[in-house]
Amino acid sequence: MPTAELRASLFAHPAAHSLSPALHRAALKAVGWKGGYRAEDVLPAELPARVQALRARAASAEVLTGANLSLPHKVTVMPLLDGLTPAAAAVGAVNTLFWQGGQLMGDNTDAPGLRAALLDAGYSPAPGLRAVLLGAGGAARAALWVLREWGIPTLMLNRTPERAQALAAEWAVEGWDVQAAQPGGVNWAEVGLILNASSAGLDRPDETPLDLTPAQWRELPGSALVYDMVYRPEQTRLRRDAAAQGVRTEGGLGMLAHQAALAFERWTGQQVDAGVLLTVARRELSGAGDQA
Ligand SMILES: NC(=O)c1ccc[n+]([C@@H]2O[C@H](COP(=O)([O-])OP(=O)(O)OC[C@H]3O[C@@H](n4cnc5c(N)ncnc54)[C@H](OP(=O)(O)O)[C@@H]3O)[C@@H](O)[C@H]2O)c1
Repeated sequence: MPTAELRASLFAHPAAHSLSPALHRAALKAVGWKGGYRAEDVLPAELPARVQALRARAASAEVLTGANLSLPHKVTVMPLLDGLTPAAAAVGAVNTLFWQGGQLMGDNTDAPGLRAALLDAGYSPAPGLRAVLLGAGGAARAALWVLREWGIPTLMLNRTPERAQALAAEWAVEGWDVQAAQPGGVNWAEVGLILNASSAGLDRPDETPLDLTPAQWRELPGSALVYDMVYRPEQTRLRRDAAAQGVRTEGGLGMLAHQAALAFERWTGQQVDAGVLLTVARRELSGAGDQA
């Protein structure tokens, strides 16, 4: 009889509005497992003690344990762990803690979650087309992992240009064209993907990280996709501006659902349909979900 109970937590600050508890409770229900998932508000100074407490509750034959991390803990948790997956090491951030042979390991499921969400949105890298990546924080690092894996020539735009320059230099490898740019220096007719990994628009329906004119939006190829990692609100201004000029858009809930499904699989070995989690996320966001 396989283990069928999971006790997991999210460590974040703030943690109150996270959709993760609803997603992981739905995942538990989908596979018929017992257990629970709590969002815990953890201040930076409290993180080492929380990780220590997780070690004390190491997975047993009866109950599996694990954790997710969100802002501001994704990088500072790394020295507290026994090891990292290749994805976490390459991205330089951890969002999932799991047990492997008695070792507490850090994984990054944001990056493969984004990759899966882009494929779900019908994106496929096309020869001759570039990606424009907006932002230069932690989410941009997950995006760089995907773009580098696919070898898509990438221009990075950020509010603070120096951060984009530093990140582009850090991630450059031979054979992959990644560089910082300014909006005025982009040939939009060559852009197949605009990926917002900045926080612009988060809880601000009128804010956008990319203020293009209607004519500039219409320069994009017909196959172009705007993927906005921001999902609160689901229809951000970036998406509304693009859609108004006939450009295809997708919001970040798919990435959220996929990263949760991948974390759940790390803890339990069970696969859940990210589509089921996406439906739950959308319901929670609309305020119709169970707020318990
Ligand atoms: N869908 C998902 O599953 C998922 C997963 C991870 C993250 N996200 C979202 O991705 C976003 C970024 O997260 P993060 O962890 O990378 O945050 P972060 O490390 O704090 O970085 C924030 C980035 O956004 C830029 N920025 C902030 N406010 C801006 C504004 N008003 N105008 C233009 N740029 C602005 C910052 O530019 P400066 O360098 O100039 O400060 C920086 O590049 C958040 O909205 C987060 O919710 C979504």
